[in-house]
Amino acid sequence: MSHSQAPDAKAVTTAALLAMKRDKKRIVAITAYDALFGRLVDESGVDVVLVGDSLNQVIAGKPTTLSATLDQMIYHARMVRRGVERALLVVDMPFLSYQVSVEDALRSCGRAMKETGAQAVKLEGGTAMAKTVRALVDIGIPVMGHIGLTPQSVHALGGYRVQGKDEETAKRLETDARALGDAGCFALVLELVPAALAGRISKSLSIPTIGIGAGIDCDGQVLVLPDLLGLNDRFAPKFLKRYAELAAEVRRAVGAFAGEVRQGKFPDAGHSF
Ligand code: KIV
Repeated sequence: MSHSQAPDAKAVTTAALLAMKRDKKRIVAITAYDALFGRLVDESGVDVVLVGDSLNQVIAGKPTTLSATLDQMIYHARMVRRGVERALLVVDMPFLSYQVSVEDALRSCGRAMKETGAQAVKLEGGTAMAKTVRALVDIGIPVMGHIGLTPQSVHALGGYRVQGKDEETAKRLETDARALGDAGCFALVLELVPAALAGRISKSLSIPTIGIGAGIDCDGQVLVLPDLLGLNDRFAPKFLKRYAELAAEVRRAVGAFAGEVRQGKFPDAGHSF
């Protein structure tokens, strides 16, 4: 979009997400990592497309999200941008691109916005990130928060486990959620949080919560696209529902192609010039 063009009237905005919360309409979010799937999920009518740093695991094959770089996130977000026209595009900020100082965060997030065309950034952390969120919002960068299981802190949390199961950690998450709401986040991801706690947090905030493994009472839901599609078929946590079994379909299709090539059946006359 050039600067002289008006924004698409049908495009989802952060204000539209806040209105959806007020109108009790559930928000649908999904990850995407390239232009092709960006277009497909956008055409499916989702509200938010997140270029998640989960790409470091599901696309790059790394064991955690920790080694994702800002350049890598920008590279993928630029691709997704070419496919997404309607949904709000959010780019995840990778580990160490925003935690060292507020100034660092402004530079990293500013770069991500400027170089990708995304409409918002997402960053992990609670009360400790509130000052950074405020500074970003003050210069016009919309921020989606992320608390509960924050994968960039997986080693400190002792693994990918449900957070807020006891009273003390539940209270801390409620305080974190309030701090991020007060700091100006437009939405908040709740990851691996007991359903009742997520419901309480969602009710207490004026901004929408978007759950992953956080039960039905969040204002919206997000899943990682290759997980939902059954492409990442070695990953089967309790919270994940697969809506397709594409890994099996890929093996079947590629196996069929390989068989026909080996048997001299492909290409036949109908596929030749
Ligand atoms: O990186 C990611 O894909 C995420 C979602 C799971 C919310 O942060």
